Amino acid sequence: QPLDFSGVWRFRELFPFAPEESIVTIGEGQTILQNSAAVASYVGVQQGNLFLQYEGLNPSGSFKDNGMTAAATHARMVGAHVAACASTGNTSASLAIYASSTKAFRTVVFIGSGKIAFGKLSQALDYDACTVQIMGDFDDALARVREVSSERGIYLCNSVNPFRLEGQKSIMYRVLEGLGWEVPDWIVVPGGNLGNSSSFGKALAELKQLGLIDRIPRLAVINAHGANTLQQLYNDHHVRWNNGNVPLETINRFYAEMDLNSRRADTIASAIEINRPVNLMKCLRALETCDGVVRDVHDQEILDAKAQVGAGGFGCEPASAASVAGARLLRAQGVIAPSDRVVCILTGHQLKDPDATVAYHSGNRDMFESKLARRGVTETPFRNM
Ligand code: F0G
Repeated sequence: QPLDFSGVWRFRELFPFAPEESIVTIGEGQTILQNSAAVASYVGVQQGNLFLQYEGLNPSGSFKDNGMTAAATHARMVGAHVAACASTGNTSASLAIYASSTKAFRTVVFIGSGKIAFGKLSQALDYDACTVQIMGDFDDALARVREVSSERGIYLCNSVNPFRLEGQKSIMYRVLEGLGWEVPDWIVVPGGNLGNSSSFGKALAELKQLGLIDRIPRLAVINAHGANTLQQLYNDHHVRWNNGNVPLETINRFYAEMDLNSRRADTIASAIEINRPVNLMKCLRALETCDGVVRDVHDQEILDAKAQVGAGGFGCEPASAASVAGARLLRAQGVIAPSDRVVCILTGHQLKDPDATVAYHSGNRDMFESKLARRGVTETPFRNM
């Protein structure tokens, strides 16, 4: 059968682990790089210098499909019958669509109770994934699915799976392709479990090694303030990759101090509501490779940025807008210069989490109180009218 190479697999020479006949693909990686005048003004860079890499047009509506096609391929190669993940919603939607559309394996997804946007939950249910809600949040769900997978020989599809990160490298390839292989100054990405930022660092280091780019753009990883473990480690505790000599004791002491086992992450950007990012080490390495910076942004900033993205073109889910809010913050701090060329990654589709959007724009009091006010969001366009 002829294989239609997708926006991920047409770069397969850069992650050559699978024979062509094993590739599991559903047309992922058809994304758009938009030069956004509206968001350039909002962020404060010169017109023409702000690009949005929109990943919402992937089959399951988020960037996760770039990696899941690679994980699903590897799962098929090793003959997996069942694949599993824990998720804040997008990974589960992605895994579920690969299972349902290819019938390559069956799927179990673990989600934290009350921690998932309904757009995403509805995908897992519709794609007929066995959906298990566990008491606790994403961090608990991930710990549980790791135990269950190793006990039962289930193929694990979270971003601890290195093949996922290989596929996600293609986001950087498409960004550079869209820019005519002219390297931008900044790549700005939301940070949750830190798989995406890790894969970007790896992609860029490899491209430089291969001589396909002559310099590496700087990476900015943006946490939500209510889930800012990386921000605290990197900026307050100055934890660095340092050629692999990461001071584990420092990290463990910091985790103990923060009491991360009992303290819950809390942000309207539920996709990145994560306290114990599993790819922390890899992300520190990416930050070193890319002379990176880390910031955190408040929910108010995230939703304001999201409304600007929507008004300017695509729209995105809250977590995605952390990249735009982060770019604006870095510009205000003088870290990003007005003449810098900046690419913000919009990780997920606007329709993933309509509740947050409607609560923000409509001023629906019940929704507003439950969704936004308790997280410190007080300003909305509705209120300002
Ligand atoms: N943006 C969206 C829309 C996401 O769904 C996620 C992660 C991120 C950003 C953060 O990416 O984890 O690579 O740093 N969502 C995961 C999930 C955790 O389960 O869907 P990351």
